[in-house]
Amino acid sequence: MKGLILSGGKGTRLLPLTYRRAKQLIPVANEPVLFRVIRAIRDAGITDIGIVIGDTGAEIREAVGDGSRWGVKITYIEQSAPAGLAHAVKESLHFLGDERFVMFLGDNVIQGGISPLIQQFANSNWNSQIVLKRVPNPQQFGVAELNGDGSIKRLVEKPKNPPSDLALVGIYMFDHHIREAVHAIRPSFRGELEITDAIQWLVEHGYAVHPYVHEGWWIDTGKMADMLSANDHVLEELVPRVEGTIDEASKIDPRVTVEKGAQIINSTVRGPTIIGENTQIVNSYIGPFTSIYHNVIVENSEIEHTIVLEHCRIINVGTRIQDSLIGRNAYITQSDRKPKSINLNLGDYSQIDLV
Ligand code: G1P
Repeated sequence: MKGLILSGGKGTRLLPLTYRRAKQLIPVANEPVLFRVIRAIRDAGITDIGIVIGDTGAEIREAVGDGSRWGVKITYIEQSAPAGLAHAVKESLHFLGDERFVMFLGDNVIQGGISPLIQQFANSNWNSQIVLKRVPNPQQFGVAELNGDGSIKRLVEKPKNPPSDLALVGIYMFDHHIREAVHAIRPSFRGELEITDAIQWLVEHGYAVHPYVHEGWWIDTGKMADMLSANDHVLEELVPRVEGTIDEASKIDPRVTVEKGAQIINSTVRGPTIIGENTQIVNSYIGPFTSIYHNVIVENSEIEHTIVLEHCRIINVGTRIQDSLIGRNAYITQSDRKPKSINLNLGDYSQIDLV
């Protein structure tokens, strides 16, 4: 089997973080979401992986490279326009050939691995397998309606009146019949070639599409709140390790990971939390569910339930920072100067919530 990861798109709902960065490269628990997807496919025994890229392709190529870091071979496929998931498959047909493949959306984070699912499909004679998950907001996804015997009745993309609460998770398995399907369908109401419509075409033409209902957590990391909850889940899964240094005056919870070169000085860190490579935490409090990425300095400050990206400096901030996502190279500080005021130098699309 081959793997196909879709990593195009602009990530407009994650602005400003995606202003100059591919959304698939934003880290959860200090690992870019896309790297986690590559690992999940590799762990299922698939080493031939195509990544479909768009406007942010250069950055993705630079971050992922040739895949040797994970023991896989990566082929980049440039999508000529962001015209839908089925369009991405259409433009990947030369890479896929006639082999069975798993397609994974590069911004989806799912609990556990996908190896059993892939094995199940590889050993079956199904033409496709899809993954479904019960959600409270099915209007925002592709939705499946099942028959009484559990087979698929129909699939519909972003329905106003959803026929069920079963959303299509961004993991799909196909055999070569998907070729005919992606050529047969027409653009949807949003002007895209929808993979949901291509699968509906398979169902209508009598091909075997097997639905699997996923019971664990699943997050489509479209918005900031989704990023933070993906971070919470992945931090909880992490097996803690300490590779950096912690001085005697610091209090560290056992569920804290301290990466290489990181230093914790006279601070309290509660887990689950991860402190990135060469980051310094000095005279500070880092609360649970926090991911601080590489080369960050936190001094005399308090941070909880937050993601901080690389090269930030957070210094003398007396008010606790929480439920936040802080982009690269941000500098946050507080002083005793009078008159008391807030001094902002924000990038486009920034959001500040003062309480
Ligand atoms: C896409 C699919 C949708 C699926 C979702 C999963 O939506 O079109 O069917 O439920 O991914 O993440 P999009 O992210 O393009 O809105």
